[in-house]
Amino acid sequence: MSHADDHQGTRRDFLYYATAGAGVVATGAAVWPLVNQMNPSADVLALASIRVDVSLVDPGTQITVLWQGKPVFIRSRTEEEIAEARAVDVSDLPDADANNENIGAAPATDENRALSEDGQWLVQMGVCTHLGCVPLGDAGDFGGWFCPCHGSHYDTSGRIRKGPAPRNLPVPVASFVDETTIQLG
Ligand code: FES
Repeated sequence: MSHADDHQGTRRDFLYYATAGAGVVATGAAVWPLVNQMNPSADVLALASIRVDVSLVDPGTQITVLWQGKPVFIRSRTEEEIAEARAVDVSDLPDADANNENIGAAPATDENRALSEDGQWLVQMGVCTHLGCVPLGDAGDFGGWFCPCHGSHYDTSGRIRKGPAPRNLPVPVASFVDETTIQLG
């Protein structure tokens, strides 16, 4: 089995619609054009906030939800992914800012990007900061996300490490409203 087949076979990466709750639509790089074609209605685009049930998201997997017309990655990270992200020297990073709307300008430490203090949950926009493609999860040279459009590699904290993308994947306004529900916006 090739690496690509293996990758597709093990990914658990779903797209949810805010209104429908649970429609599995597509995975990976094909998501964004498909979403554009489906032309979400104005009321969906306008939703200021949505709540996402993450009770079924196991460590090492992620879901992709559509919020305000854009994909958002919600990942439950493994201990290894967290440790890897936290071992990085921030001065080595191309983008030294956490790019986290919840805290404003701050160093790009993993602690400043993760949603939960223990580092398990990482919520970020699924939009490459180069030209807006949707990166693939569990991919790339740094074990995080890879954007196949022009070859940008993001680490397990969603920080850009290699390739043309200038910024870390943006962390949107997000919070836990209870143990298993994340609110976006
Ligand atoms: S859009 Fe992602 S690398 Fe160009």
